[in-house]
Amino acid sequence: MSLPLTVLNGPNLNLLGERAPGTYGDATLAEIEETLRAAFPEVDFAFFQASGAGALIDRLHAAHAGKAAGAVLNPGGLAHTSVALRDAVAAVALPVVEVHLSNVHAREDFRQRLVVAGACEGVVAGLGPRGYSLAVRFLVESGSPGAREPG
Ligand code: DQA
Repeated sequence: MSLPLTVLNGPNLNLLGERAPGTYGDATLAEIEETLRAAFPEVDFAFFQASGAGALIDRLHAAHAGKAAGAVLNPGGLAHTSVALRDAVAAVALPVVEVHLSNVHAREDFRQRLVVAGACEGVVAGLGPRGYSLAVRFLVESGSPGAREPG
């Protein structure tokens, strides 16, 4: 049976491949998604990218309602600002792993505050596209849906 996982990417991540390759690498988001599909044939992926918190929140709610087993979330810049996105992660009974391509801890001061991360199972930062694979691996190994109580 395939494991349903949602992979959410926030603002500007649609520009991967051309956006600051020295920081984010040269893989496009489509390439990252294809790599995940190939590496995890046992997973039924739903991929989604949006520029705004609202659309990402709607997708988290839908994943929760649709009984996804978990979600991988790169909130982009919203990671540092969005209380609403954090509240959505806390509200759904889904394990969510936050991913950052870059090591945000080694960057500007304004990236040091991770608003969403505290509601997530954990965070992978600075490992490039492999961070998504590691997050998926964690969720696959964690197994069943509804591992957390909604908060
Ligand atoms: C990012 C890090 C964020 O600080 C930044 O705003 C992004 C990308 C990353 O994947 O490294 O858009 O989430």
